[in-house]
Amino acid sequence: MSKPFPLAILASGSGTNLQAIIDAVEDGRVPAEIRVVICNRANAKALERAERHQLATELVDHKAFPSREAFDEHVVGILRDRGVELVCLAGFDRLLSPVFIRAFPERILNIHPALLPSFPGLHAQRQALDYGVRIAGCTVHIVDEKTDHGPIIIQAAVPVYSDDTVESVSERILAEEHRIYPEAVCLFAEGRIRIEGRRARIADEEPLADRALVSPALG
Ligand code: GRF
Repeated sequence: MSKPFPLAILASGSGTNLQAIIDAVEDGRVPAEIRVVICNRANAKALERAERHQLATELVDHKAFPSREAFDEHVVGILRDRGVELVCLAGFDRLLSPVFIRAFPERILNIHPALLPSFPGLHAQRQALDYGVRIAGCTVHIVDEKTDHGPIIIQAAVPVYSDDTVESVSERILAEEHRIYPEAVCLFAEGRIRIEGRRARIADEEPLADRALVSPALG
């Protein structure tokens, strides 16, 4: 058997995506090893989750650094020391500078709670609801030097109902995030992703049933 793929997860908040990846690694769905979980907020639930699973953790408070670049250099140092080859951003609330992105070219993944390129940036679910979309969703993509912009690995779509609130639609999207993020990590760990310009080619991709998601449902 080949060696598990060495990855790191960076999180700032509740860490439910972190949890989904931990669970997938622990039950053997993803052939990876979580070398370190890095968190920039001492009170983040994400940190507790990592500790509960006896994972190596590093708390790196961004406020202790004079610049974004200095913080990034420090984090890159930790990742290199741990032999990390894939960095997963999971609700990490700091923008990465080129210092970080160039240290891990095409080796940083992010999850965004919208169907990019629609609704990049903060409060994506609210943006989608306010716009009036009837299909929302989430995206796992490669991180490049523009926010929420790099090549797309996987997307999942969910319906939006007339009586939805930001909370209800966010919950529906989050359930899909927890499905597709471990999937994307798995594709990466198995070496099945090849980036060609903006397009991610997936080796041995299964075709989907030829049926559209239509929302609202046709009567
Ligand atoms: C998720 O909605 C993710 O898409 C966004 O931040 C949120 C993180 O949630 N980037 P959690 O910390 O994984 O629970």
